[in-house]
Amino acid sequence: MKKIGVLTSGGDSQGMNAAVFATVRCALSQGLTVYGIHDGYQGLIDGVAEELTAKSVEGIVHRGGTVLGTARCAEMKTPEGQQKAVATLKKYGIDGLVVIGGDGSFQGAKALSTGYGIKVIGIPGTIDNDLAYTDYTLGFDSAVAVVVNCVTQLRDTMSCNKRTCVVEVMGRDCGDIALYAALACGAEAVCIPEKPYDADLLAKKIAHNLSAGKTDNIILVSEGIRFDGTLEKGHKADKVMKDLLQRLPDLNVRSVILGHLQRGGDATVYDRKLGIMMGALAVKCLAEGKTDRVIGIKNDVVFDEDMLEALAKKKSFNEQVFNLTKSLVEY
Ligand code: ADP
Ligand code: F6P
Repeated sequence: MKKIGVLTSGGDSQGMNAAVFATVRCALSQGLTVYGIHDGYQGLIDGVAEELTAKSVEGIVHRGGTVLGTARCAEMKTPEGQQKAVATLKKYGIDGLVVIGGDGSFQGAKALSTGYGIKVIGIPGTIDNDLAYTDYTLGFDSAVAVVVNCVTQLRDTMSCNKRTCVVEVMGRDCGDIALYAALACGAEAVCIPEKPYDADLLAKKIAHNLSAGKTDNIILVSEGIRFDGTLEKGHKADKVMKDLLQRLPDLNVRSVILGHLQRGGDATVYDRKLGIMMGALAVKCLAEGKTDRVIGIKNDVVFDEDMLEALAKKKSFNEQVFNLTKSLVEY
């Protein structure tokens, strides 16, 4: 192994830059040449790679987004797209690739290794925390921190106006951002895809809080929640607000969609450390000739695991955190 590549793919997340930084610096310190591929698999398909130096990654560890750029690239799912990607890797003599992204990006990496013998290592970069094999993905901690800061600000205005606020957060089909933010900011209710949505129960809870004198109520809603088992189009917070008003017509309520704010801003210290440790281990794996591995963290220990086995795992739901979150805001 003499030359490796690194790319970031799918939704960007804080901590990706820290992983890029460590990948580059660790590879250089082992005498490897490193190429950065811009805009995820699109860059590979377009055929351009840039040789990275220690200077190229100076001062990026804390920054949100990804200096390599990212993209969602449908062509990578086709054999033609994959052949173009492989041609680029061959052109630059890259025999190992570090892919920083979510499970979709890992599928792309797997296609390159299974079909074309490229050595690939995946680093989990997504705010969603939706990968079962690892306790945390890069960006999750930072996204939760953004939500908690935003809710703290919302509390100021909601409390002096005696308002209820329905706040929608990201996470796709995974409720972790909503759940852990709810725990950390004391949201009065949390609606997540892992639990059935019950509009009557939610309205009852808010009515109870109001009668108990709790007049500012924060309801955190995950974008992945389903209504009557179906995923409705449009913002979930607006539908939840409508449901509440149908049941409590006098409710003083607003909805806020946090959206892409959650993917912006500096990475937390946790995500910086995690990105660095994961990038370092990814390079170690490639240097040892390993392939088809994903990097994860369990009980504070960073490890590598077979990619397919890791992706086959089903994420378990933390019932204890859910119950604790609810119990802390009983009135
Ligand atoms: P994430 O990596 O965050 O899960 P996506 O699911 O959007 O995000 O995947 C990112 C990119 O990975 C896709 O745009 C595509 O380029 C590539 N990809 C996803 N699934 C596959 C697949 N089955 N085969 C090849 N490439 C894939
Ligand atoms: O996967 C990360 C994520 O931020 C999800 O939480 C969200 O549903 C999606 O990406 C948004 O995608 P886009 O940036 O393409 O709007």
